[in-house]
Amino acid sequence: MDPLVRAAIEARRQAVAPFSKFLVGAALESRDGRVFTGCNIENASYGLTVCAERVAVFKALSEGARAFSRIVVCADTQHLTPPCGACRQILWEFCPEAEVILVNLDGASETLAIRDLLPRAFDVSFLT
Ligand code: THU
Repeated sequence: MDPLVRAAIEARRQAVAPFSKFLVGAALESRDGRVFTGCNIENASYGLTVCAERVAVFKALSEGARAFSRIVVCADTQHLTPPCGACRQILWEFCPEAEVILVNLDGASETLAIRDLLPRAFDVSFLT
């Protein structure tokens, strides 16, 4: 198995999801070969929930990584779970070149491009 897929599956086991019980793991690979994992983290104030993808991206950025090649997202769903809208925005802004690889626990996998997940995106180019 691809080590990045394995890392996402393992990260999912750390999910803090007492409300939804929907466990998600992510593993983000930087161009310099590092792997940053994330899981979803829910909170009694539901709106503060952070998705697995954003945890992985923010961990990576806080460790100095700036260029990324792939992110694997793992959930236990038959129809592969895609990133939510908020995560698509973050992925577009910080990992625009990364492949987004959706997997489940049964071995299904699909690879997508962020530009296809978030067409006509808003980003920093509009602020200048
Ligand atoms: N969630 C993620 O972590 N990533 C996704 O791609 C979809 C949704 C989380 C947020 C929340 O904790 C739970 O899944 C249900 O929405």
